[in-house]
Amino acid sequence: MRFTKRTALHGELTVPGDKSISHRTIMLGAIAEGTTEVRGFLQGADCLSSIACFRQLGIEIENTPELVRIHGKGLHHLQPSKQILDAGNSGTTTRLISGILAAQPFTSRITGDASIQRRPMNRIITPLRQMGADITSEAGNGCVPLRIQGRPLTGIHYTSPVASAQVKSAILLAGLYAEGSTSVTEPYLSRNHTELMLKAFGARLHVDDTTSTIYPDQHLTAQAISVPGDISSAAYFLAAGLITPNSSITIKHVGINPTRDGILEVCQAMGGTVILEHIQDTTGEPTADITVQSSSLKGTVIEGALIPKLIDELPILAVLACFAEGTTVIRDAQELKVKESNRIDVMVENLKAMGADVEGTKDGMIIHGGKPLHGACIDSHLDHRIAMSFAIAGLNADGETKIKGDECIAISYPGFYQDLQMLY
Ligand code: S3P
Repeated sequence: MRFTKRTALHGELTVPGDKSISHRTIMLGAIAEGTTEVRGFLQGADCLSSIACFRQLGIEIENTPELVRIHGKGLHHLQPSKQILDAGNSGTTTRLISGILAAQPFTSRITGDASIQRRPMNRIITPLRQMGADITSEAGNGCVPLRIQGRPLTGIHYTSPVASAQVKSAILLAGLYAEGSTSVTEPYLSRNHTELMLKAFGARLHVDDTTSTIYPDQHLTAQAISVPGDISSAAYFLAAGLITPNSSITIKHVGINPTRDGILEVCQAMGGTVILEHIQDTTGEPTADITVQSSSLKGTVIEGALIPKLIDELPILAVLACFAEGTTVIRDAQELKVKESNRIDVMVENLKAMGADVEGTKDGMIIHGGKPLHGACIDSHLDHRIAMSFAIAGLNADGETKIKGDECIAISYPGFYQDLQMLY
């Protein structure tokens, strides 16, 4: 796809369902008793990988665009897969399912695409082994393919070196099956969708600050779930509305869970006009309609406890920073290096190609904003969030921007270009 400069973006849209929540409906639905019904499920490639894996484990899942029905079999009735499980590009599928598989009375293998084969799995292998799991990286490099021989597990108290919801969730899911309680303490609070959904399914779980504790001998009960719009997908339109002149965009029914809303805080700190209306909180996952308007932005510092609350939005925030007066510093974000691509290197490479004044650091980026961007040929490195971030940059750059490998956008937002064009 090619992009040229736009002078105004206007309109109202809804973005697809939250990716993190969609994955968890499949996982918890599969091990709950009864039929879980999900509306607003994200039909992106990552969540389809979760569906495919649980189908291979013997779970019947009906998937239509309006409704996903997961016929749960209870905690102890998954069946061994005849083939190696394929998580595709999805870190969430790989890490969360590993926590469940570690406790099953059979052996599983799981792999994924070239990107997932580079991503670190020792972060789940280490705590799961401490619980008694027999889990190995087959190539001995700490990456997939993983071989997981299910074993009886024992609860642990794990102090995680990273604020990662995937690590926390893998341990809590294994903890459902362990003897004794299982706790995870994080350096900063990461997204809490697993905890909220486990509670909704009837699990006994206790949260105290950055420590979550789960108790065994559980029985999960199927639920009806409505998935809110994904704030990580809304992020591209938030940024587009703020930096494109003469624009006003409303994104309806977006999830604003406080462990995910860091982008709103940063946009406001940068001087952006961001208006929240129709705030609702009926399910524990609050939502709002969010309106953004073209704004004069100033640089800011993004660091510390804020990082896990906006980790997936840092690529688009780096684009936003190029349109702000002054310097934006992103630090404490070394996790960016182990996402679908090395997002520090890839953002710096592509922003520089567009003429931005940006430097990579060991744990983030420093961006001197206010310098006009020009069109360039962008290499997405097959990372969906990079591709979408540079579509928005391309709409605000002189000349033409072309994005290589942008089919990867289907990982999290299959209709992204159509939704963007509706605002032209
Ligand atoms: C996710 C957690 C985050 C995030 C990823 C989805 C989840 O990863 O970057 O896109 O659904 O739990 P980490 O837990 O590795 O930070």
